[in-house]
Amino acid sequence: ALDKKIKLTLDDLHLSNEQLTKIMKKMIKEMHKGLGKDTHDDATVKMIPSYVKSLPDGTERGSFLALDLGGTNFRVLLVKIKEGDKLDGKPKIEMDSQIYRMPEDVIVGEGEKLFDHIAMCMADFLKRLDLLDQRLPVGFTFSFPCQQDGLDQATLITWTKGFSAPGVVGKNIVKMLKDAIDRRGDMDVDIIAVVNDTVGTMTSCAFDDQECMVGLIVGTGSNACYMEKMSNIERVDSDKGEMCVNMEWGAFGDDGALSEYRNEYDAHVDENSLNCGKQLYEKMISGMYMGEIVRLVLVKLTDDGLLFGGKGSDALRTRGSFQTSYVSQIESAIPSGMTAVQNILATLDIGAMRHDCEIVIQVCRAVSRRAAHLCAAGIAAVARKIKASHPEQEVLRMTCGVDGTVYKKHPTFSDIMSEKVNELCAGADVAVNFALSYDGSGKGAALITAVAQRAINAEQ
Ligand code: BG6
Ligand code: GLC
Repeated sequence: ALDKKIKLTLDDLHLSNEQLTKIMKKMIKEMHKGLGKDTHDDATVKMIPSYVKSLPDGTERGSFLALDLGGTNFRVLLVKIKEGDKLDGKPKIEMDSQIYRMPEDVIVGEGEKLFDHIAMCMADFLKRLDLLDQRLPVGFTFSFPCQQDGLDQATLITWTKGFSAPGVVGKNIVKMLKDAIDRRGDMDVDIIAVVNDTVGTMTSCAFDDQECMVGLIVGTGSNACYMEKMSNIERVDSDKGEMCVNMEWGAFGDDGALSEYRNEYDAHVDENSLNCGKQLYEKMISGMYMGEIVRLVLVKLTDDGLLFGGKGSDALRTRGSFQTSYVSQIESAIPSGMTAVQNILATLDIGAMRHDCEIVIQVCRAVSRRAAHLCAAGIAAVARKIKASHPEQEVLRMTCGVDGTVYKKHPTFSDIMSEKVNELCAGADVAVNFALSYDGSGKGAALITAVAQRAINAEQ
């Protein structure tokens, strides 16, 4: 009887193929809405033109500075694209980078200070490499929704994830960064491109794989981008070629489209977030929220007397105490040995019995599986949308470049997601292959900068 009650709770976290198909179809509808000139303003999925049109062709050369802000780490990188060996003609990429801390008071404090901090990290990095007096082209990975009017024009629409610095929404972030650099007066850089992390990831994968036309992030946040025909992007005046579209799919459901699939845990997570009512799809998928959903389910089971002898602990009842990394660790634990799970629960002052550990594993699995399935519904929507633009191809093969801590660290997320994408794409004549990105989106931002700079140089 006990197991039956637990099963009932976990059922709340299960989505059937029928439900996932409905979600996929709603996503496709929302994508059309976001791309349409007259419907865009009402769309939750913003489908932002990135102004990234051509992918690297292998002739790019030079040294570039890349900034990477918005994920777990803030990074500054130097990317050198050099002559490769003569055999395959491919250039060689050398990278050096440093992670800088982003203190909490900087990401929620005054906007100008945030950019001062970024400029300070850039200066420190350049100084360490003795490059302060060089004029380097910069590619800026800024992983938030920005309205773009060009590759180097980006206005922040809204903060997402853990950021909330006032005075930045509605502003041109390139100008804010330039101003911060000018306030210091010790650097001479040229900001050439602002890119979303999805776009950077896709570009970085496309460098090695011609079939890469989708980028996916399952990390602190979740989002995707893909190459769309210009003729389908109604807000950009041109019908020639393709452009990468940053979907900002995290906001899917913000108009209520997901209400029948959301449960009490999702509502609780949302209410206690920095951006209540926003990014509802992201909150069901990404790493910033996954551990908290698990914690809420564990508290519920404890309160129902089904777990931890009905007692739990103060730590378990503290918001944010169950880190998403625990979910990956717990699901990676060897089934026969519960010690790893017991050790994690001990950090929350819980002495767990074997039976408790088994339930905790089940809860983690249910939450992460739901996230992987929701993500699969999104990718299946993208794959079907791309296929619809390529009727000439009998079967369209595409690679989706992926990055993010959840995707990288969770033991089964990637397999569960790709299997579900195949199921949801049955009969659609698409074959989606997933490729993990090893270099982060900074490399992609540098490549995009290199392509753009070649075009600028050609004009001069
Ligand atoms: C990497 C990027 O590609 O993936 C980050 O370089 C990005 O900037 C990240 O946001 C997503 O991962 P996470 O898990 O750090 O949010
Ligand atoms: C959030 C951001 C988006 C980013 C994603 C992954 O959804 O709004 O721009 O791509 O997180 O980092």
